[in-house]
Amino acid sequence: MERTFVMIKPDGVQRGLAGEIISRFERKGLKIVAMKMLWIGRELAEQHYAEHKEKPFFNALIDYITSGPVVAMVVEGRSAVSVVRTMIGKTNPAEAAPGTVRGDLAMDTGRNVVHASDSLQSAEREISLFFKPDEIFDYAKVD
Ligand code: CMP
Repeated sequence: MERTFVMIKPDGVQRGLAGEIISRFERKGLKIVAMKMLWIGRELAEQHYAEHKEKPFFNALIDYITSGPVVAMVVEGRSAVSVVRTMIGKTNPAEAAPGTVRGDLAMDTGRNVVHASDSLQSAEREISLFFKPDEIFDYAKVD
């Protein structure tokens, strides 16, 4: 069983899309084992996006992700990392397939409504940045 980190970004929250996005993961059969709304500060944002530090869009990305509250989640399931990445679609929503979150709900790379970990290693790092172990729940899910 894998766990991955998912974050509904400020534009997703502001546009009232949190329920729609969460619902897609629930309907798929993935299990939400942790969830919180928070307003990220610059320090956490820079840690989360550390791999993009040298990219030209880094400052704009940090401004954007700290511009309003986000919904952070830990999503669990078989192959959860790749299943969730497939469900959210390509980073550039203009290229994301219809049926994916970004393909259906977004137009701009800079405002692409959702983030999800790209590997098991990133998932472990990102989950530990946002959640303490006792904020992640072990409970029975009924299919
Ligand atoms: P995300 O999956 O959260 O990972 C990095 C984010 O950087 C990405 O989604 C985009 O929101 C943002 N970003 C902004 N500009 C670019 C770009 N040119 N290429 C890739 N990511 C970008």
